[in-house]
Amino acid sequence: MDLPQIGLGTMGLDDPEPIETAIERGYRHLDTAQIYDNEAVVGEGIARAAVDRNDLVVATKLWIDQLDRVCESTIESLERLDLDRVDLLYVHRPTGAYDPERTLTALADLRATGLVDAVAVSNFELDNLERFIDVLGEPPAANQIEYHPLFQPTPALDHARKHDYPLVAYSPLSGGRAGDIDSVVEVATRHGITPEQASLAWLLAKGIRPIPKASSRRHLESNLAALDVALDPADVTLIDEIEQTRELFPD
Ligand SMILES: NC(=O)c1ccc[n+]([C@@H]2O[C@H](COP(=O)([O-])OP(=O)(O)OC[C@H]3O[C@@H](n4cnc5c(N)ncnc54)[C@H](OP(=O)(O)O)[C@@H]3O)[C@@H](O)[C@H]2O)c1
Repeated sequence: MDLPQIGLGTMGLDDPEPIETAIERGYRHLDTAQIYDNEAVVGEGIARAAVDRNDLVVATKLWIDQLDRVCESTIESLERLDLDRVDLLYVHRPTGAYDPERTLTALADLRATGLVDAVAVSNFELDNLERFIDVLGEPPAANQIEYHPLFQPTPALDHARKHDYPLVAYSPLSGGRAGDIDSVVEVATRHGITPEQASLAWLLAKGIRPIPKASSRRHLESNLAALDVALDPADVTLIDEIEQTRELFPD
């Protein structure tokens, strides 16, 4: 999957305007989920924006109580999004109604119908990832996990690199707290950029695809500008060495 380097997280967005603005400013990957209760808003933002649908990567996630009704639930998501396919369909978490054989086989069948381009996973740890590969005979199209300066689960990154699929970082701005992290502020000051840009540039330097959520035009533009930042290896190491303790979304 050709996944843009920076995507837009939409959790908490209940207005199509920032979605439309993001697309018009250059975002090409939009991340929603059934549990965010905003698929219709995201779909409306897409419909309003002057962009070819084929140039967008639209991702949604099946919530844990929908994993035993994959086909029906995906069709409901498509109706809310007002789209005829999604590019990435995630298992949001491997829990609840998740059954590796039944859920993953249903997802592969759905992909064969063309309603879904690629099957991805979220919050999967190594054992879940290995089971995915056993069942479908291939790695997921992406694994989306929490990853930011205060929470760095490197085994998942190693797995993604080994099997050559993208690791998507959620909460890449530490939930809006990047400016409170000393090493991130130090790197930002050295480069004349914001702490948020430093966090995103650090992820990009590691080959991770962040999906920062932003509401205002200023934040949307500033986050996308992180693509132009080149950190030095010493900057990357400084942030790597932050004490890694603060998981925002534990199970
Ligand atoms: N798969 C999962 O289980 C899972 C779990 C959590 C999140 N996610 C996904 O990941 C996305 C991002 O994660 P997140 O929303 O938790 O946190 P985040 O992206 O780390 O942080 C979002 C916060 O940062 C603020 N912000 C954005 N750009 C900024 C900037 N340039 N300067 C200062 N503040 C800025 C936002 O404020 P404004 O809104 O005011 O701009 C918002 O309060 C979600 O939207 C969702 O799509 C997935």
